[in-house]
Amino acid sequence: MSNKNLIIAFGGSSPEHEVSVLTAMQVFAAMEDRNYELIPLYITKSGKWLSGDPLKDLSNYKDLKKLEAECFPVSFSKDEMGTTHLTEQGKAGLFKKAFSEPVYTVVCAFHGSEGENGAFQGACEQFNIPYTGSGVLASSVGMDKVKAKQLCEANNIPVTSSLDFYESDWEAHQDTILKEAEMLGYPLVVKPANLGSSIGVKKVDAEDELIDAVETAFRYDAHLLVEVAIQPLMEINCSVLGTAENCRASVCERPLGSTETLSFEDKYQSGAGADKGMASADRVIPADISPELTDTIRSMAVHTFKTFDASGVARLDFLVNADTEDVYFNEINTIPGSFSFYLWDKSDLNFTQLVEELIEIALQRHHAKNGRIRSYDTNLLSEKAVTGIKGLKGTK
Ligand SMILES: Nc1ncnc2c1ncn2[C@@H]1O[C@H](COP(=O)(O)OP(=O)(O)O)[C@@H](O)[C@H]1O
Ligand SMILES: [Mg+2]
Repeated sequence: MSNKNLIIAFGGSSPEHEVSVLTAMQVFAAMEDRNYELIPLYITKSGKWLSGDPLKDLSNYKDLKKLEAECFPVSFSKDEMGTTHLTEQGKAGLFKKAFSEPVYTVVCAFHGSEGENGAFQGACEQFNIPYTGSGVLASSVGMDKVKAKQLCEANNIPVTSSLDFYESDWEAHQDTILKEAEMLGYPLVVKPANLGSSIGVKKVDAEDELIDAVETAFRYDAHLLVEVAIQPLMEINCSVLGTAENCRASVCERPLGSTETLSFEDKYQSGAGADKGMASADRVIPADISPELTDTIRSMAVHTFKTFDASGVARLDFLVNADTEDVYFNEINTIPGSFSFYLWDKSDLNFTQLVEELIEIALQRHHAKNGRIRSYDTNLLSEKAVTGIKGLKGTK
């Protein structure tokens, strides 16, 4: 391949759309002089796939309508050699050659929902192109709070006691659910199973508050998690980089919320300087905790990363009881804000080097996948084989 086209994929239908734009801008800035052709793949909130140079400039995102008008629609496509391209849609004509560039690697800079839940990763798998970060399985299990906890429980990673239920369960058996909640013991935390950014997450102290929080959370998701609230709460996060076979943990961070539950506003709208993304949110790095607790959390982070079969860079978030120092897995972010670079620059890995390493891991995984036998030359539907199937007629 002559030019190394790095596709920076970001945006998408997610509450963290804007955070993703910021991460993508960091990638454009960091990779500018690195012998790559940087090609944006911006997915709008309504799901359109767009490319074009105006997408590289943050100031253009102030007017999204104008920005969209200046860009062109794209999709993945395979050429006759089987190489995947990012290709302009519908513009090829007599006088104009449509934009179509072979894909070297996709840098996934999405946060939340469809960009982080395995759906986009599945598209990359279908087109057999290298992409940064976790694969389909880790991405989708990591996005579902209920399934993520079940996977942890099965692998001796401590989680808070909880119950989960669907909207239909709530309608049919509200009393039973309320009794089970009572047995867990208040205060409890209500969460939509599949969201993020603290949307719909609420700490409740009594039954009437629980009912309110459940009704609100059902506006966001049909599946809810209700878990025991840890108090006094200390949150500690740790990033892990590599693959399930070979990975390492970063320093730990202690994010600081203005209230006990870190809200969307705390995370992104606290006036911390939008252009800096997650890095500027209030946090203590390295976390001001004992060396023993640091070691426990770092090894738990690595074990969890491996358990999910994660890849690239992930951030593991833990809830710690500040009195007992008991640690519980809270969530895995398979595409953490700003790729958690601020936890790695303490280990002398700057943002550019981190992205280079993510690309390296993506290429390794891609080559490993393509080095295995995945299909067979024998055509089971060849004429000779099909004659044997005739007997199946009418057996439906
Ligand atoms: N079991 C819990 N006990 C106490 N606080 C919690 C608990 N679970 C979540 N929180 C608080 O709510 C915040 C958001 O919950 P989290 O599970 O991280 O959801 P999100 O995916 O929206 O970030 C956490 O950062 C923490 O402050
Ligand atoms: Mg969280």
